Amino acid sequence: MLIYLGCSAVAAFALAIGLTVAGAAPAAVAHAAFALGAMPLIFAAMGHFVPVLTRSGGAEPAIHRLPLVLQAAGAVAVGVLAGALPGWALHPAIVAGLAAAAVFLGWQWRRGRASLGRPHPGLGWYKAALVCLLLALAAIFAGLLWPAGYAALRLAHLHLNTLGFIGLTAIGTLHVLMPTVLGQPDPLAAQRLRRQLPWALGGVAATAAAGLLAWLTPVGVLLVGGVLVDTVAGWLKTHGVRRIVGDGAAVALLGAALGLLATVATGFVHGFGGLPGRPAVTAFFTLFLLPLVTGALSQLLPVWRFPGPATPARARMRATLVRFGALRTGLFLVGGGLLSAGATAGAAPVAAGVLLFAAMLLRGLRARG
Ligand code: HEM
Ligand code: HEM
Repeated sequence: MLIYLGCSAVAAFALAIGLTVAGAAPAAVAHAAFALGAMPLIFAAMGHFVPVLTRSGGAEPAIHRLPLVLQAAGAVAVGVLAGALPGWALHPAIVAGLAAAAVFLGWQWRRGRASLGRPHPGLGWYKAALVCLLLALAAIFAGLLWPAGYAALRLAHLHLNTLGFIGLTAIGTLHVLMPTVLGQPDPLAAQRLRRQLPWALGGVAATAAAGLLAWLTPVGVLLVGGVLVDTVAGWLKTHGVRRIVGDGAAVALLGAALGLLATVATGFVHGFGGLPGRPAVTAFFTLFLLPLVTGALSQLLPVWRFPGPATPARARMRATLVRFGALRTGLFLVGGGLLSAGATAGAAPVAAGVLLFAAMLLRGLRARG
C-alpha cells in the first residue's frame, strides 16, 4: 500500500505538470499535486511514523486503507476543478475528507495515550496538521454554502492546507527524518520540535487570518520563516553542510526546507497585494514539495519495500534512489524559481527532475531482493 501510494504521488505530480502544459485551470493543477498527490501520501507516511513515535505496534489494516478514501476525494476535487465533473460532487468529496481526517486524528490520539512513556513530540505536529486539514476543509465547505464569505474562506482553506496541513507535517517529519537519513543522531531534535510547535501554529493561524486582517501578514511570515531558519541552523550545527550535501536524500530535504523558506518569504509581497498569489502555489509545489517528497521517498521506499532489519537489498535500492539526488534538487530549485518568476521555460528542468526520479524509482523497484 505504501509503495503504491508513493508511486501514485509521483504520477499525480507528473499529471499536475501535464495539466499545466495543457493549460488547465490553476486550481485543478493545485489539487492534482496537493489533494490527489500529497494528501494520501501524508496519511500513509503518518501511518508509518505514528507507531514509531508512540512506540506501539504497526497501524491496523483499516487505518492503512484510509489514504484510499483521500485519494478518491482528491480525484473528485481535480475532476470538478478541471470542469470534468459537476460542481455538486465537491460536497461528498469534502465530507469524505473530513470523515477520514477525523478518524485518523482519533486514532493518533488513542495511540498517543496508549504510548509507553511520553510520546515523541513529533506526534503533536501530526495532530496539529490534521486539525489544520479539518479546518481547511470545513472552511471551503462553508465558503461553498455562503458565497459572501467565499473569498476569505478560500484564502483560509489554501493557507491552512499548504502551510498548516502539509507544512506542519513536513517540518515535524524532517526533524526526525534528517538524522535517520544521515545515520547520525540529533540529540536536540526533540527539544526543537517541542519549542517550535507553538510558534509554527501561531504563524499558520496568523497567515490563515491574514486574508481578512492584512496586518497579520508579516507576523505569519516571521513566525513560519523563523521556525524554518531555526530548523536549518540546527541541522547545520549538528550535521554540517558537507555531510548533508554529500547524501542524495539529505540534500533534497535541505533543498525542501530552503525552498519553503523562499516561498514563505514571498508571502510578504503577495500578502500585501504587491504580486499575485498564484506563483506562490507554483513555488510551494516545485521548490518545496518536489524535493521533499523525492528526498523522503528515497529514504522510505527501500524501508517499506524491505521491512525488518537492514539488508543488502535495501541498501542497494536506497543507493539507486539517492543517485542524482543533488542534481534533481538543483533542477527543482532552478526550474521552480524560473516558473515562479513567470518563465515557462522553467517547466523543462522541473519535468526533467521528476522523470529522473521516476526512472530511478522504476529501476529500484524492479531490482530483486
Ligand atoms: C477533498 C479535498 C479538497 C477539496 C474538495 C478542495 C476544494 C477546493 C475548492 C473548491 C477551491 C476553490 C477553487 C476556486 O476558487 O477556483 C480550492 C482552492 C484551493 N485549494 Fe483545495 N480542496 C481540497 C483539498 C486541498 C488540499 C489538500 C490542498 C493543499 C494541501 C488544497 C489547496 C488549495 C489551493 C492552493 C487552492 C487555491 C488554488 C488556486 O486557485 O490557485 N486543497 N480547494
Ligand atoms: C507566511 C506566509 C504567507 C502569508 C503571510 C500569506 C498571506 C496572504 C494574504 C494576506 C493573501 C491575500 C492577499 C490579497 O487579498 O490581496 C494571500 C493570498 C494568496 N496566497 Fe498567501 N501567504 C503566505 C504563504 C502562501 C503560500 C505558501 C502559498 C502557496 C501555497 C500562498 C498562496 C496564496 C494564493 C494563491 C493567494 C491568492 C489567492 C487568490 O486570491 O487567488 N500563500 N496570501
